[in-house]
Amino acid sequence: MILVTGGAGFIGGNFVLDYLANPKVAGLVNLDKLTYAGNPETLKTVEHDPRYHFIQGDIGNVSLVSDLLEKYAITAVVNFAAESHVDRSILGPSEFIQTNIVGTFHLLEAVRIYWEKLSTGSKESFRFLHVSTDEVYGTLSLSDPAFNETNPYEPNSPYSASKAASDHLVRAWHHTYGLPVVTTNCSNNYGPYHFPEKLIPLVILNAINGKSLPIYGDGQQIRDWLYVKDHCSAIRRVLELGQLGQTYNIGGWNEKTNLEVVRTICQILDTIKPKQNGSYADQITYVKDRPGHDRRYAIDASKIERELGWKPKETFDTGIRKTVEWYLANTDWTQSVLSGNYQNWIDLQYSSNAK
Ligand code: NAD
Ligand code: DAU
Repeated sequence: MILVTGGAGFIGGNFVLDYLANPKVAGLVNLDKLTYAGNPETLKTVEHDPRYHFIQGDIGNVSLVSDLLEKYAITAVVNFAAESHVDRSILGPSEFIQTNIVGTFHLLEAVRIYWEKLSTGSKESFRFLHVSTDEVYGTLSLSDPAFNETNPYEPNSPYSASKAASDHLVRAWHHTYGLPVVTTNCSNNYGPYHFPEKLIPLVILNAINGKSLPIYGDGQQIRDWLYVKDHCSAIRRVLELGQLGQTYNIGGWNEKTNLEVVRTICQILDTIKPKQNGSYADQITYVKDRPGHDRRYAIDASKIERELGWKPKETFDTGIRKTVEWYLANTDWTQSVLSGNYQNWIDLQYSSNAK
């Protein structure tokens, strides 16, 4: 039985669904605070699976986490829970410090106290897998090699600084207390159940709803896109085979400028859901740039391929088409997300954002 934190979010939700799709697994406990980013709708299909246990709560609540670890005799923890949106971290960093740093600290302490009391065999096989980001490495120029696991940490946003701090805590709990940890640093995910404050789902939904497609700055920033199901399979592989104390970079080998991404989405929509007049690309609008906007991220994912035999299955072309089709076919899910609360964020972020 494993404990997943943040399993009602985008990546955690996909992980829970994929994990339980394997009939051989014993089950999982999903601890999620259900912030604005957590959506139980994502998990509707597993709600009644007896192997699935949902607990609403905070990773920073040591007594709750301790009780769950004991009650379910947890053998591994996968920590997805975090505040994850860079723009929100710029407008209000406090929650990012609280969950990503203080919350991770409390989670690590609860897990350490539990782990120290396990029998020798259980102690050896126990794992704490911390899910982190490529943003901790900072930004690249066009000619720099992609980030590998030895790159120095140079985070630039409140979000990435808080994730970097959490990575350091995880590392220290291994070196000091021997906690059996592994950390993964992955690039930008995309795919089903992605909250539409992030570029790809925002653009798909704005396009079909006749709204503008906001491009920050000149749109030449580069991200390295990873299909979320590939990310989930990589995490399962690291959980199974990852070496203690090691970090693994996970990426899709898909570097694209933001403008390329948005134009590709428009081309797919032009083919499968054509507008009466013109192209969806006509809705592209340039808006004010993100403060401190990192220019380029790229992941060198050769260590996980070489040492653990994992590589992504999807190319950007196959993954983005599946993603656009998923959003067109799952309007119930998108309606559940496009609530008043979501609208408040869009007003705050974009109303005064014209270039
Ligand atoms: P998300 O924002 O979609 O989901 C985060 C989930 O964590 C939500 O369900 C939320 O309710 C929950 N949560 C937040 N604070 C919590 C707390 N204090 N206690 C318990 N639950 C809490 O995030 P995501 O995009 O799924 O990202 C998951 C993880 O992967 C994060 O750690 C993020 O930093 C990392 N990551 C994400 C990406 C990406 O492209 N989305 C890329 C690299 C790394
Ligand atoms: O690199 C991994 C990171 O990817 C994760 O750690 C973060 O949790 C995740 O949110 C994501 O961060 P980004 O800032 O790269 O993702 P976002 O979708 O917010 O933005 C992608 C790019 O698109 C970025 O260069 C900003 C730009 N952008 C974004 C939005 C929302 C726009 O041009 N317009 C927009 O409206």
